Amino acid sequence: MQSTPPVAAAERAALRTRTGAPSWALKVVMAVSGLTWLAFVLVHLVGNLKVYTGASHFDAYAAWLREVLVPLAPHGAVLWALRVVLVVLLVAHVWAAALLTARARAARGPHRARLHSWRSFVARTMPVTGLVVLGFLVLHVLDLTLGVRPVAPSGFRAETSGTFFAHENLVASLSRPWAAAVYTVTMVLLAGHVLHGTLVAVQDLGGVGRSVRAVATWAGAVLAVAILLGNAVIPVAILLGVVS
Ligand code: HEM
Repeated sequence: MQSTPPVAAAERAALRTRTGAPSWALKVVMAVSGLTWLAFVLVHLVGNLKVYTGASHFDAYAAWLREVLVPLAPHGAVLWALRVVLVVLLVAHVWAAALLTARARAARGPHRARLHSWRSFVARTMPVTGLVVLGFLVLHVLDLTLGVRPVAPSGFRAETSGTFFAHENLVASLSRPWAAAVYTVTMVLLAGHVLHGTLVAVQDLGGVGRSVRAVATWAGAVLAVAILLGNAVIPVAILLGVVS
């Protein structure tokens, strides 16, 4: 049997990936959805810091999330709207990333760029870190929002008539070494994803000037450090008993 020459196979693969939305539109989708998720992660991070100010503060914050805009909007409406927007943006981000990655692979063919620095390593591993964060999100919602075992701790307590146990559930979850490790490692990978993603998003939205790119690089670094200091430290603090 005759085997297909690799160049012809690569050309066919490239042609397949070129159908559909143009690459510039996919990049805009990725940039807008990624930056919106980043805004959510930062607001969520500020909320998470309430873990240090005690259970009543943290649980009051969980309750407040359901009360935003009440009585203008029904109880929980804003939270549900936010959930829908976040899911739509996440699907769009993953879809655009998958198509763009396939196109880049097809265009590159069998040639592989060399890794010259840790930055190019972070850039090359964007699909991997993105997939890990996606997997984390599924576990995270099963763990702390839905309380589905064995992902959630055995003592998980759901909201009962307006009383929240968010702090208790968080401490119970992250007191398990495997859960604390999953959270910490994911936050480190998320910091890398954000570090590179911020620069790429700004460039894809037209910020290609030298000073704009410098600001985007710094912004990415500051946001990554915020995620490391804000989020990644929480599981460690709980595991060490600093927060209980
Ligand atoms: C150490 C880091 C983190 C901690 C301690 C944490 C803590 C929590 C807690 C306690 C809840 C439940 C809130 C409630 O039901 O009232 C929650 C929900 C959630 N978190 Fe996180 N989180 C962390 C990182 C992240 C990251 C990095 C993301 C996004 C990439 C994220 C996305 C979400 C989402 C989408 C929900 C579900 C909101 C809902 O539908 O109710 N979290 N988180």
